[in-house]
Amino acid sequence: MEKEIINILETDTVNLSEDGERLVIIDQSVLPGTVKLVELRDRREIIDAIKRLRVRGAPAIGVAAGIAVYLSALDALNVAGNDRKGFMEELRKAAGELVLARPTAVNLKWAVDRMMDLAEGLVDSTPEEIVSRLRVEALTIKNEDIEVCRKLGENGLPLLKRGQGILTHCNAGHLATVRYGTATAPIYLGQERGYGFHVYADETRPLLQGARLTSTELQLAGVDVTLICDNMAASVMKEGKVQTVITGCDRVAANGDSANKIGTLGVAILAKHYGIPLYIAAPTSTIDMGTATGEDIVIEQRDGTDITDMWYSEPMALREVRTYNPAFDVTDHELIAGIITEYGVAYPPYDVSLRDIMEKKKMEQRKEVRDE
Ligand code: MRU
Repeated sequence: MEKEIINILETDTVNLSEDGERLVIIDQSVLPGTVKLVELRDRREIIDAIKRLRVRGAPAIGVAAGIAVYLSALDALNVAGNDRKGFMEELRKAAGELVLARPTAVNLKWAVDRMMDLAEGLVDSTPEEIVSRLRVEALTIKNEDIEVCRKLGENGLPLLKRGQGILTHCNAGHLATVRYGTATAPIYLGQERGYGFHVYADETRPLLQGARLTSTELQLAGVDVTLICDNMAASVMKEGKVQTVITGCDRVAANGDSANKIGTLGVAILAKHYGIPLYIAAPTSTIDMGTATGEDIVIEQRDGTDITDMWYSEPMALREVRTYNPAFDVTDHELIAGIITEYGVAYPPYDVSLRDIMEKKKMEQRKEVRDE
């Protein structure tokens, strides 16, 4: 089912329908020409939407996956009724399918694991009780995402100066999260506080997330944004128009190596050349301490038609030409000036600072449980 909406920035990118039976997303595959909400019923539709980037961006994928586990639990209840063993078997099968939807963004696995750890731990509960706890947890993940992005904005803004030029790559904006974005959170906050930033958005070949999504949402928010082709980043840096680079991230390894949209590595090398700091904005749900280095991150490979056909009215290359289309690359930690998280900014050496950030998270979560 599809519904027209008016304002992207006033709409949660990912949500649960009011009756609790559908995942509701802003369909990012048709933006900016068409702005519409789409309701998805079950995990098959949700997996398809994740694969086709109708919902995309690591945090948004995580929130969608959390809701997908809850909807799968509803389906499992229909199949198995109050037979707990049968119910859990169905649910595990669904979770196993969901984690395979896309390989690089760790938020997908993080959310599925969080939901499944909860379900597995409820050993004395009936399937109905588990479903109801999963619904609450999925909404908690969603609401936390909003709060975390707000904190990324607060922690990132002090790294920026009034009137600066900021370059970003891909879309780590409102559309990649529930609200505010990760890399864009300090930009939106600065906009509210009159910082007067000038943002350069790389168009981000081949799927054009920078052109279709980042420049759209920043323009709608009244931010001074200029869209450039990816191959113009060097020139704008050389011309002195950029003082900071901020991007999002799909997975941060324990040593700080960070996988993000293909092209980020090139931007990081250019930034290093021109002495411009590059910050990665990453909620702790994107930090994967179980992955030692960037070499261990699985990079999604996509169909070559993204390059040859998509967005063109006729193919832009011979049918038989070989293509290579990795969706992400890994920026080596040496090229990253800092990693902005909701628990503060991690600086090199990242093996130490990321461990400290994750420890701080654990301590604060324990304190919250004690205070409840
Ligand atoms: O293939 P996509 O569009 O899902 O890739 C998204 C990115 O690379 C984003 O920069 C990343 O997920 C961070 S989103 C806050």
